[in-house]
Amino acid sequence: MEKLVINGGKKLYGEVKIQGAKNAILPLFAAAILTDDKVVINNVPDLSDVDNMIKILKNLGVKVDRYGSTAVIDASNLCGYEIPNGLAKELRSSIFLLGSVLSRCKKAKVAYPGGCDIGLRPIDIHIKALRDLNVEVEESKGYIYCNAENFKSTEISLDYPSVGATENAILSSVLCKGNTVVHNAACEPEIVDLQNFLVKMGAKVTGAGTSVIKIYGVKTLHGTLYDAMPDRIAAGTYAIAVAMTGGTVLLDGARYQDMRALLSKLSKTSCNIICNGDKIYIKSNGKPVSVPKITTQPHPGFPTDLQAPMMALQTVSDGVSIFTENIFENRYRHVGELIKMGADIVTNGRTAVIKGVPYLTGTEVYAQDLRGGAALILAGLKAEGTTIVKDVRYVDRGYEKIEEVFRSLGAEVRRE
Ligand code: EPZ
Repeated sequence: MEKLVINGGKKLYGEVKIQGAKNAILPLFAAAILTDDKVVINNVPDLSDVDNMIKILKNLGVKVDRYGSTAVIDASNLCGYEIPNGLAKELRSSIFLLGSVLSRCKKAKVAYPGGCDIGLRPIDIHIKALRDLNVEVEESKGYIYCNAENFKSTEISLDYPSVGATENAILSSVLCKGNTVVHNAACEPEIVDLQNFLVKMGAKVTGAGTSVIKIYGVKTLHGTLYDAMPDRIAAGTYAIAVAMTGGTVLLDGARYQDMRALLSKLSKTSCNIICNGDKIYIKSNGKPVSVPKITTQPHPGFPTDLQAPMMALQTVSDGVSIFTENIFENRYRHVGELIKMGADIVTNGRTAVIKGVPYLTGTEVYAQDLRGGAALILAGLKAEGTTIVKDVRYVDRGYEKIEEVFRSLGAEVRRE
């Protein structure tokens, strides 16, 4: 299993080109199978989650060719509607394919994606949305069987603004006659990207970015060329790294409009931040001051995916910070590893209290999920001595060549 070896204490200086957004690319790939035409998507990052999504698409008979960060998707020979157990487990977000496969094949068989590192990850909201759209859904022996022959456009309301369930509701209704309205929809920027992509393919979708999304079904969709949005979580992680280690970094291709919750916290406690078009200039202004409260919420609130990296920063900030993780029930798995490095953190259910310490000490730590692993890397960049972050494969799911990014900014980090 690969690990990262980090000699901490180096400030970060330079420029980072922000990768395409993992959480936009995955639904875009799902949407690309809604046409027999070729679809070209740029800004596709080199991530294991993307590799797994491509494996699943190929298993359905979809042709996917990659040319650097460009993917060409050809679903003209789509011949399957079943996502087998192994692959669905491998990639929880394969559940987004459910809506697209139903639109194309009118039926789908998907292995229950099951829980993952950060929680049970139920799909009850997905299933309720599909049933509300008159899709027959049976669950048996670990599989979900869907029949959309009698799909009926209508107004539905999600019990919770689930990102994936919103995406599935859109993908299952774009090719179905009539008007579907999704109330209490998730407002994440990745859903706006999905809407923009679908509209370029000829779909009629409006309202993404708000809690009411309207889909007017069309008969067919056509191919298109699309540039996926930048990854706001990767950009946020690198911004936090600068606040933590000190230094000055330009985030090139970052969309500050998607990052306001984070940037407002950082600018009040630890950085001078200048946003100009698609560039964000971050300059650490010395020892960070603790952010009194971090409460994760659906967008535009503070993103749960930046909770762990932000916690790493708080461990070496001056003061006390209280975290509340409202989105996932098991997203503090990095806490024990940070404590091994000398952090002062106490958790109680969804609450964590972090008291800043003068320094962290490098040691051997284990990544246990994607964003928690990134937090450990940030801690290693700051810690005194050498930190070994094991099971870095978790981090490779969402950060493209993370050690190369930090090495290019002056960090001493290598993969073994
Ligand atoms: C997406 O996951 C992202 N993944 C997650 O990013 C992100 O943390 C999450 O949205 C919230 O922003 C992708 O886009 C691939 P949800 P998703 O449905 O769609 C519960 C990362 O690190 N829920 O909004 O699965 C669920 O358990 C990943 O990049 C139900 O109870 O998130 C969670 O507690 C992690 N029933 C909450 O809602 C359901 O049917 C939010 O989940 C669906 C969700």
